[in-house]
Amino acid sequence: MGWNSWNKFACDIDERLIRETADAMVKTGLKDAGYQYVNIDDCWHGQRDANGNIHPDPKRFPSGIKALADYVHGKGLKLGIYSDAGDTTCGGRPGSRGYEYQDARTYASWGIDYVKYDWCNTPLLNAEAAYTTMRDAIAKAGRPMVFSICEWGMSKPWEWAGKVGHLWRTTPDIYNCFDCQFSPGLSTGLGVLRILDKHADANLRKFAGPGRWNDMDMLEVGNGMSEDQDRAHMSIWAMMASPLILGNDLRTMSESTRRILTNPGVIAVNQDKLGVQALRVLADGPLEVYAKPLDGGQWALMFLNRSNQPADIHHDWKKQVLIDDLNQRSVDFKENVYQWSDLWSKKTGDTSRKLEAKLAPHSVLMLRLTGPAKP
Ligand code: GLA
Repeated sequence: MGWNSWNKFACDIDERLIRETADAMVKTGLKDAGYQYVNIDDCWHGQRDANGNIHPDPKRFPSGIKALADYVHGKGLKLGIYSDAGDTTCGGRPGSRGYEYQDARTYASWGIDYVKYDWCNTPLLNAEAAYTTMRDAIAKAGRPMVFSICEWGMSKPWEWAGKVGHLWRTTPDIYNCFDCQFSPGLSTGLGVLRILDKHADANLRKFAGPGRWNDMDMLEVGNGMSEDQDRAHMSIWAMMASPLILGNDLRTMSESTRRILTNPGVIAVNQDKLGVQALRVLADGPLEVYAKPLDGGQWALMFLNRSNQPADIHHDWKKQVLIDDLNQRSVDFKENVYQWSDLWSKKTGDTSRKLEAKLAPHSVLMLRLTGPAKP
């Protein structure tokens, strides 16, 4: 859980933004809610010196990255940085190709805790080999750093990245919309539902687990979607056990955004100890149901209305046995009554009675099921 500068600020970043973001993370209660990484994305770079050492942009980061890391650590938070496996980053700054060990040593000396490693400008490179080189460089540098693989799912990283990094992107970049796609030139940006579909359909769940995560990309909560869409976006990322890396301006966010990002019940589903990614158990036109087995025999269930029209839920618990073959978990609600609590509205109920609800367009109902209780 953390924050990243790219979605909101792109290349318009400097040390003041990073310091103020760390301050805001503490002040707004995000740190207490579990967010800890403050990640600088592309465009922090200046030039390499005659010895090949990379330096930050002297105008935007005049105090240097070490001073920034000290500041962020002083708040009880961690600092992340960004590089690329090619000669240059996506933003045209120096990449790490040929400098992997030197850069990892530099990051370690600065006190970096997290490295996001991108895939622009890498013609002819093999992804598994290139990321393995950086993994080994980080290990050799002697400071633990989370290694975030960002090659957009092109070489099916889920099949090899569990041994190489801690998280790996599964799709092209997120685009700030709920149900759209933006394709300027060769690049593509995917809205929330498009990312969900790629993530859920490809049956990636078996590759994820504690310490090895399918990464749906940084969040767009607070960047302009409606409240219902933002709640649905946050719930989907939580259900799919995706890393929660915020992408909005923490210094100016509204109270409603803050509440969405700090909902303790939703975060607990995301951070559940089992680390299981939800499966889609029902697809009924625009209405879908996702189930996530949780620690202690509990479950999270999410009803998603994909449509821009309202949808009615008439869910007879007893008609559907919940089964997750992969994790050998199942519940037959004819035999067991579970209590449910709605993680957004805080309503409660149990599975002895049909669930009746109305879902607004692009919204979710997200429940935690605990049980079995005596009928
Ligand atoms: C790629 C990544 C993004 C971001 C930009 C920076 O598009 O997928 O997340 O890091 O590069 O240029």
